[in-house]
Amino acid sequence: MAGQEHEQWASRVGFLLAAIGSAAGLGNIWRFSYVAGENGGAPFLIIYALCILFIGLPIVIAEISIGRNARGDAVLAFRHARPDRAWYLTGGMAVIGCFFILGFYGVIAGWSLKYFVSALSGHLWITDNYSTYFSGYIAQPIEPVIWQAIMMALTVIVVAGGIQKGIEAANRFLMPVLGLILVFLAGYSLTLDGASQGLAFLFAPDWSAFTRPSVYIAAIGQAFFSLGIGMAIFLTYGGYLARGHSIPRAAAIIVAGDTLLALCAGLAIFPAVFSFGLNPAEGPELAFITLPGLFQLMPAGKWLAILFFGLLVGAALTSMFSILEVPVAYFIRRTGLSRRTVTVALGIIIFSVGVPASLGYSVLKSASIGSRNILEFYDYAISNFLLPLGGIATALFTGWGWGKAKALEESDFHDSTIGKIWLFCLRFIGPIFIALAFFSVSFF
Ligand code: PHE
Repeated sequence: MAGQEHEQWASRVGFLLAAIGSAAGLGNIWRFSYVAGENGGAPFLIIYALCILFIGLPIVIAEISIGRNARGDAVLAFRHARPDRAWYLTGGMAVIGCFFILGFYGVIAGWSLKYFVSALSGHLWITDNYSTYFSGYIAQPIEPVIWQAIMMALTVIVVAGGIQKGIEAANRFLMPVLGLILVFLAGYSLTLDGASQGLAFLFAPDWSAFTRPSVYIAAIGQAFFSLGIGMAIFLTYGGYLARGHSIPRAAAIIVAGDTLLALCAGLAIFPAVFSFGLNPAEGPELAFITLPGLFQLMPAGKWLAILFFGLLVGAALTSMFSILEVPVAYFIRRTGLSRRTVTVALGIIIFSVGVPASLGYSVLKSASIGSRNILEFYDYAISNFLLPLGGIATALFTGWGWGKAKALEESDFHDSTIGKIWLFCLRFIGPIFIALAFFSVSFF
């Protein structure tokens, strides 16, 4: 068990804001918009919603329960729950996985910060060709790495501040601001001429997309990435949660919050994209190429750009705190060193793990894995393999390894029917569906 001084959230709202902040990030804005765009919009959205409900939500509940039960980090929590089995390897994989996730995430967070600062200073408007602007920017070896370092440094400062004074305080400030910006941007976008085409794209199903296996894989990968499950993040945050608050209710709020924020981002982006006759299926560059061009065409676009890229930076940060906290919690316990020392050391190491992903556009350009450059490979391998693998392990542990009675009790479900449905999802639906998606990845 962790020492008596194991920290705790100051309030339930603080925990919820931090957890929603963790889930809602670049995945909801940058990744959701391009993946939805590439996969035909509405059909993707329906499958995505089903994945969230029957796979994502049950795993969020499972993670928080395992963490709260042990009041400890990723590895300790699995060990505490089953000292006699090797389930702690799931936690170990999560701790290592977070190095890669945060490493690569920090690169895109750095691009976002660069765009935000350029929108503020006006530098963003020196061109009208954002394709060359963006590719010219990422092709420089030094500058992107500097912005990446600044984002990592900000993350380290907050996480070093601890749970209440660092992570909770930052989320309490950032989350309401981000929510307001997003609602404002979505509202504005919906008033544009031609917005209805964007809405149709998001909400009118094109049934043929349901027959494409790649849409299912994309949906499940996005569900995992957007919630950030499988990497013991909710488990670690749950480790700081006091008893007495219903976990299923908290998880439902977190998942609803994450989904709502992704939808709002979709509502902000697609109506505007269609209204200016642009292509929604631009790929990862959507946020950095299509949108700046769009802002340039819009009245008051310069202000909107500041809001949008500010939103991206803030949303990225609140997720970065949580990803860093997973290894920080583990290494504080293992090394006995102070939170500050551990956080700074890990920040530097993780930053270094991310640097090759940034350099993949410049000096390491020739280093490709298959058809992907380093960053694309990180993104693909993390969303489609690492997170689902961690998710399957967490689901199997809770469904089969923990013991039915214990799982139902620790999750606050007790003897309810809905608790049995929850276990069923963890035992069968999640693992089978994820395994199918795994196999099809290698075939299609
Ligand atoms: N969920 C976060 C987002 O949407 C990112 C994330 C991915 C966090 C994986 C943790 C693990 O941006």
